Amino acid sequence: MCTEWTEMARWPDIENVRRDFPLLKNAGIAYLDNSATSQKPLCVLEKEKEYYENYNANPFRGLYGISVKATDAYEEARAAAAEFIHAAPEEIIFTRNASESLNLAAYSLGELLIREGDEIITSVAEHHSNLLPWQQLAARKGASVRYMEPEADGSFDPEKLREMMNDKVRIVSLTAMSNLFGTLNDVKTLAKIAHESGSVYIADGAQSVPHTVTDVKELDVDMIAFSGHKMLGPMGIGVLYGKKELLEKMPPFLTGGEMITTVTLEKTVYAPVPHKFEAGTVNAGGAIAFAEALRYLTKTGLKRIEEREKMLTTLAVEGIKKIPNVLLIGSERPEDHHGIVTFKIEGVHPHDVSSIFSDENIAVRAGHHCAQPLHRFLGIPSTTRASFMFYNTEEEVERFLHVLASIRGRMGYADENLL
Ligand code: ALA
Repeated sequence: MCTEWTEMARWPDIENVRRDFPLLKNAGIAYLDNSATSQKPLCVLEKEKEYYENYNANPFRGLYGISVKATDAYEEARAAAAEFIHAAPEEIIFTRNASESLNLAAYSLGELLIREGDEIITSVAEHHSNLLPWQQLAARKGASVRYMEPEADGSFDPEKLREMMNDKVRIVSLTAMSNLFGTLNDVKTLAKIAHESGSVYIADGAQSVPHTVTDVKELDVDMIAFSGHKMLGPMGIGVLYGKKELLEKMPPFLTGGEMITTVTLEKTVYAPVPHKFEAGTVNAGGAIAFAEALRYLTKTGLKRIEEREKMLTTLAVEGIKKIPNVLLIGSERPEDHHGIVTFKIEGVHPHDVSSIFSDENIAVRAGHHCAQPLHRFLGIPSTTRASFMFYNTEEEVERFLHVLASIRGRMGYADENLL
């Protein structure tokens, strides 16, 4: 089981929280790659095990007890995901991950909305997951993709989107938070601008939903995609939220088992949303464990999580700014980073940087972070990224800064170590 400490106004002893996450102890590392995937608390791991040990049966198919129980638990997980983002359960489609969610959106909306000569707007700051599906769609349909550019602080300027809009734009799909910059975009304003021109607005929420409060009704997005594994859940379960009236108009993406009402050799009637979009056996164990992860996040409190991650990020950003020859990517303001701190060290390849961190038992990510166009736009081939979650500690950030400050020296440069 996991610690129950909901009622406490302040963070309890962080070591108690960390005990909920077996890997933090077992792996013996400072885990600073949370934007790639988060660690999982014991209650999430136990929930998935409990499902497989006690009521593993194919949901929606069996009329016997454990199949009905699996169906109910899967639908309860859908309701939990809906509640987390202020949606209705039928607006939640379970997928494998945010990539699959965005592919579903692109294929299905592509069939519904995109004709030859139409335009799709995305940005150079996207993860490849929110870029390639639109490029593929445009190529299939004879449409074109146009790209917004981010500002120096990593944000999108809504006025620039307004200038790009015209009556050929059918879809605008932008990241709510880039996996390099960590800047939270003004999704509500961007969506409003898209809607004013008659376009659909899709947000890639893979980085934002785990770390900030998301209210889809308030943001008025038509769709938002996110992954369970970045928010304490297991890998292999993700979400595509879509407004019900839009989902109802969209054709299915994958076809097959359990997504139908009737099938004859001549004609098929598809199931109502969201089941129309969930062909084949679903990841019931993953969804049920994901709901437990959402419970953990909710009892911890998204606002409280944001505050703690801001404290850790501020420590890291202010520390980096003091280290010579280390270039911080994106905003100079710590509060813009939301746990994501990407940097470049002059004269040292990020793979060497990451290896040195690894030698010191610190996990960071190095490379292009599935955002090659953004690196090209910034004129930097690759970067290193530390990304924090509420279970990280000040001591881990200090260790990270200490190693960072030593790297050029270890690579033979004669810098003064300022830490
Ligand atoms: N999208 C994940 C990352 O940014 C994998 O690392």
